[in-house]
Amino acid sequence: MNRRWMRRDVLKTLAAGGGMLATPFALRTAFGAGDPDLHLRVMAAPAAMAIRSGPQTRGLRYTAEVLRGRRDAVRPAPGNLGPTLELRRGERVRIEVVNRTGEATVVHWHGMIVPESADGHPHQAVPSGERYTIEFTVRNPAGTYLYHPHPHPITGRQTYHGLAGLLIVRESGERDMGLPAPEHELALVLQDRRIGEDNQLVFKQMMMDDMNGVLGDRVLVNGVDDAAFKVAPRVYRLRVANVSNARIYKLAWSDGRPLRAIASDGGLFSRAEGVQERPYVTLFPFERVELIEDFGARRDGAEIALVSQRFSGVDMMGSMMGGGMMGGMMGGMMGGMMGPSQGAELHVARFTVSPGVRIRPAALALPKEEARAREGRHELHTQLAFRMMRGFLNGRSFDSQDMMAVADDERLPAGIASVWTFANDGRGMPMPHPIHIHGVRFRVIERSAGAVPEELRRGMLDAGYKDTFGIFPGERVRVQVAPAVPGLFMVHCHNLEHEDGGMMRNCLFEA
Ligand code: C2O
Ligand code: CU
Ligand code: CU
Repeated sequence: MNRRWMRRDVLKTLAAGGGMLATPFALRTAFGAGDPDLHLRVMAAPAAMAIRSGPQTRGLRYTAEVLRGRRDAVRPAPGNLGPTLELRRGERVRIEVVNRTGEATVVHWHGMIVPESADGHPHQAVPSGERYTIEFTVRNPAGTYLYHPHPHPITGRQTYHGLAGLLIVRESGERDMGLPAPEHELALVLQDRRIGEDNQLVFKQMMMDDMNGVLGDRVLVNGVDDAAFKVAPRVYRLRVANVSNARIYKLAWSDGRPLRAIASDGGLFSRAEGVQERPYVTLFPFERVELIEDFGARRDGAEIALVSQRFSGVDMMGSMMGGGMMGGMMGGMMGGMMGPSQGAELHVARFTVSPGVRIRPAALALPKEEARAREGRHELHTQLAFRMMRGFLNGRSFDSQDMMAVADDERLPAGIASVWTFANDGRGMPMPHPIHIHGVRFRVIERSAGAVPEELRRGMLDAGYKDTFGIFPGERVRVQVAPAVPGLFMVHCHNLEHEDGGMMRNCLFEA
């Protein structure tokens, strides 16, 4: 990164009104002499959207515009989804965030390795009517990232009502890898929702929602219900992002063909890892997977669906009732009364193959692995627990009175690789958690055997670089993490109701 950039403070229009959510903090960022390559404005505001036929759905929505630089950096999305931001690696980006939501908010750039000042930590939230500006240089490799709100403890509600969008990083080298060109890419943002008769979104209804996280009974794709795509008989690159509050997907093709993954949260797999073929892909909230799919291998006019297959073993009611058949039955019965359940079979999207000339897939040349950071000696341990509707990391919840609090076991060195072990065996409810760390890409190096439910095991995708991983009850997962940028970041459960329920802590990457 350009050192010059480290010197100047950001121009942040700080909240004039003060108050807890607007506490001023020292803003230092990669920002400096000269203008950025790209200047965007992202606004969060109420909106009415056509999610399906009938009355419009009220909610929130991000809009964005290019103030300076490439016009193609913002691509509108349908339905209640924010526009897709397309950045290039190495680009210097300035983003003005405008809050018109009617309440505090802040934007987090999920998966992006940005300075602390740009990260969108809850303490950086500004009241409605305010705006702030951040800057960063795009250091992430080509991949599928996200942006979403992060004000504590209302991230779940704001995201559910429509605040979310994709952030795609491109690199010039992708052209030589045999990957489908951007016009043969499809992005699929998956969000399960409950929609009332009046077409309005139904958020939390019952106590179970705080425990399980809010689950819907239908899946919106890119903000629309019953999404359908027309595809040419050729190879596509599909970018699939789970942007659901709490839903775990077991993604599969209706015609039984395997899924071929080329990328995970943190970009393309390396040449050595290669294309990862799975009968289905298990995708936790806020994980992403990129697939390569040859629709040319189907006949003209073929209709294929992407579905989330039924699975058991993680339904909270089921496990509470002791699992097994009794548990399953009780779980099912209770589930009926308690709303949608984890593991239900769901339709995701339809694809129709247009007739035409088959275009043969090009040979893929995935990138060489990037140099790894030197291995250090540091080890970190975090025990996960969820009880009495609150989440804990090493026995602590997020402290909304002291949002910057960092304990000793939440510090790790920047610049070298440490091993961070997560153990999902704290006192409380046994449940799966999607664990996310801000500001880094890490590798899953070990999973304790035996705890991944049989029905989801073959879909686990731990290859490549991750920023979010799923951990099942009783499991221990070790990740290797080498923060490149020092600063105060976060580690949390990305089940948004768990996150809002305090299952979130700071972590400090020390220079
Ligand atoms: Cu995507 Cu702290 O979150
Ligand atoms: Cu994040
Ligand atoms: Cu959780």
